[in-house]
Amino acid sequence: MRSCWVIYNGSLTHDKFKDQAILIKEAAERSGVRSVIKMNYEVLMDLETAFEERPDFVVFLDKDTLLARFLKNAGIPIFNDPDVIETCDNKAKQYLELAKHGIPMPKTIIAPKIYPSFTIKDSGYYEKILLALGLPMIIKEGHGSFGMRVYLIETKEEFHEKVDELRGVDYVFQQFIETSRGRDIRVNIVGNDIVAAMYRSSETDFRANITNGGVAEVIELTEEQKTLAIQAAHAVGAEFAGVDLLFGEKETPLVCEVNAAAHIRNIYNVTGINVADAMIAYILRQLA
Ligand SMILES: Nc1ncnc2c1ncn2[C@@H]1O[C@H](COP(=O)(O)OP(=O)(O)O)[C@@H](O)[C@H]1O
Ligand SMILES: [Mg+2]
Repeated sequence: MRSCWVIYNGSLTHDKFKDQAILIKEAAERSGVRSVIKMNYEVLMDLETAFEERPDFVVFLDKDTLLARFLKNAGIPIFNDPDVIETCDNKAKQYLELAKHGIPMPKTIIAPKIYPSFTIKDSGYYEKILLALGLPMIIKEGHGSFGMRVYLIETKEEFHEKVDELRGVDYVFQQFIETSRGRDIRVNIVGNDIVAAMYRSSETDFRANITNGGVAEVIELTEEQKTLAIQAAHAVGAEFAGVDLLFGEKETPLVCEVNAAAHIRNIYNVTGINVADAMIAYILRQLA
């Protein structure tokens, strides 16, 4: 009998992380795979002792990229691959990949590295950014989920305050897509297939994230939306992806971001599709 580990981050106490792991574990067991849920800190990354416990594969739901790499180095197949988790974990990094592949997205400028005790506020750099993107604009931290580190900047004062606050942090400046205010699409992809999609909208916030007050409904994707979502997932090398799409001019789709460990509970509740089954079926095909 095959075996797998489903790894999530044990320092995150919210139930939704464990719930995500349970959905995957149950899908694995439905396919006859013995499955153990592990919190990241339950795997000791001891570099001296040979790593002996070995499942046939790992579904990695966390962003502990060092652990993902540790397991990969031990020769265990990991889904997604640690390189993908690393790319997607940093939005600046993933936008570099998306741009390299010519993926349509909002105009994006990656902020330069500023050491926290220093500043470039008198260099003229920030004026150039204001000129290039105008206001309102989006500032988005490299690491962040559930809309929590995405900011809509409406005034110059807010802009200067935020860039000052973000010294030492990876982030990007991004064109605000007004036509997509409070609405987006989440597309879950497994391999080359779109497994499920939902339309998310919020009456109260520019961000459509459900955790942030958005509501979701089933959506029938256009061919253009389907093609772009798959291209975006492939651009970052993701086998499993939750791609967020924005609505540009005339509803033209733009890629907002690609999530490597997309949550699947909400989309299950909304569409009745359990993405976990597709994920496990995909892995078993890859390992066959
Ligand atoms: N450039 C943008 N223009 C308009 N809305 C945006 C833009 N970027 C993000 N958003 C909104 O903010 C939400 C969160 O942004 P996202 O990049 O997906 O970060 P997170 O990882 O926190 O979900 C998106 O779902 C979308 O509703
Ligand atoms: Mg998102």
